[in-house]
Amino acid sequence: MSESPQHHGQWSSRIAFIIAASGSAIGLGNIWKFPYLLGENGGGAFVLVYIACVIGIGLPIMMAETMIGRRGQRSPVNTMAALAKEANAPAFWQIAGWLGIVAGFLILSYYSVIAGWSMAYLFKMVGGFMDKVGPEEAQQIFLDLKAAPDVQLVWHSLFMALTTAILMKGLTEGIERVTRLMIPALFLMLLALDVYAATTPGFWEGMTFLFKPDFSKITPDSVLIAMGQAFFSLGLGMGSIMIYGAYLPKDVSIGRSSVIISIADSAVALMAGIAIFPVVFSNHLPPSMGPGLIFESLPLAFSHMPLGSVFGSVFFLLVFFAAITSAIALIEPAIAHLTENFAYTRQKASVIACGACWFLGLGTLWSFYDGGEWQWHGKTFFELIDFVTADVMLPLGGILIAAFGGWVIKEKVSKEELDLGEYHRYWQIGTCFIAPVAVALILLKALGLF
Ligand code: PHE
Repeated sequence: MSESPQHHGQWSSRIAFIIAASGSAIGLGNIWKFPYLLGENGGGAFVLVYIACVIGIGLPIMMAETMIGRRGQRSPVNTMAALAKEANAPAFWQIAGWLGIVAGFLILSYYSVIAGWSMAYLFKMVGGFMDKVGPEEAQQIFLDLKAAPDVQLVWHSLFMALTTAILMKGLTEGIERVTRLMIPALFLMLLALDVYAATTPGFWEGMTFLFKPDFSKITPDSVLIAMGQAFFSLGLGMGSIMIYGAYLPKDVSIGRSSVIISIADSAVALMAGIAIFPVVFSNHLPPSMGPGLIFESLPLAFSHMPLGSVFGSVFFLLVFFAAITSAIALIEPAIAHLTENFAYTRQKASVIACGACWFLGLGTLWSFYDGGEWQWHGKTFFELIDFVTADVMLPLGGILIAAFGGWVIKEKVSKEELDLGEYHRYWQIGTCFIAPVAVALILLKALGLF
């Protein structure tokens, strides 16, 4: 990594950026969250709305966000401030940067708890505690984990400690190396699980659930959730991709890289869905069982397939890697902010930001432990943080980023940065009109404001 004059380093190549950005995009969102959200929100119809959101809203915003980052070359708040000033636009645009720092911080607090679950499962798989389990036992193992705050605390703490350690080491060393191996391995692993799923009796039922849309299941809420998930899964609307863009060499085509990243991200989510739902239906489990879905269903697949405990161990190890490369991206905006504005070293910034995140994570841990007893407006602590971030803050950040990229940044600049050729017009329509209007309408409608 070579140091640029602007504090931060640079990716060594286009492929290094694609790998790092895919590492940020591919995470628990694809493997854990996408399946349970689609299980809760009506299957095929949700998948369709999700894909429409990725193409119509996510992709143009990803390009805008990366472009803003490369143009600004600083942490999100300072980038937005500098570019706004350059374009004689009000300083208010900085809000997008602030939203991102706070959202990333909040998300990581619960993300780490769930990543901790996958570490606990890895441990169980390696130890052979998951050989030959039936649906009731699988359910019980998950319930036991939720009911053991001390065990969860150990894994949550370990995950945060590892995240801090990688962050302290800096960019290329930490992120690039892990992700380069992880992505192809994860694809292969999911492919093996998909092949296994095809041999189960519930395969067609699973496929029908996933791919046959029942439009009566679409509600304003489920559209909001699908859109929030598109932001979450692509890692958009919060400055992560912006900061990764700041480390991006000038000669890389943002347009093409964004398309590749979005395709890889959506493919992993769909492959996870194909692996999970046939197993769910084969074992007569309810698809709408919520955040425990993969933890209660996948062990059943592993316990029945040949070499299941080996596959299971490798799988949960990969989930852990996928989670940690996203965790790094979630907190990077905060760290860049602390190093730039307070002259903290990377080490100090990492310890402070991750330490605070760890503390907040205790709230999520407790919300799973108390079985949803404490609620505020019908939501547990975890659900509140998830809702406020994925369904409100990321879309709001997304509107600002899209509008800023489309309206404030000069056309000449965006043409040069994105390198989309004749497709530039579509990007402009997306960022100037479709993304901000669609996101605003969906948000207002689902929040009951119109
Ligand atoms: N995209 C990550 C996932 O799907 C989470 C994430 C969100 C990462 C926002 C960075 C920014 O798990």
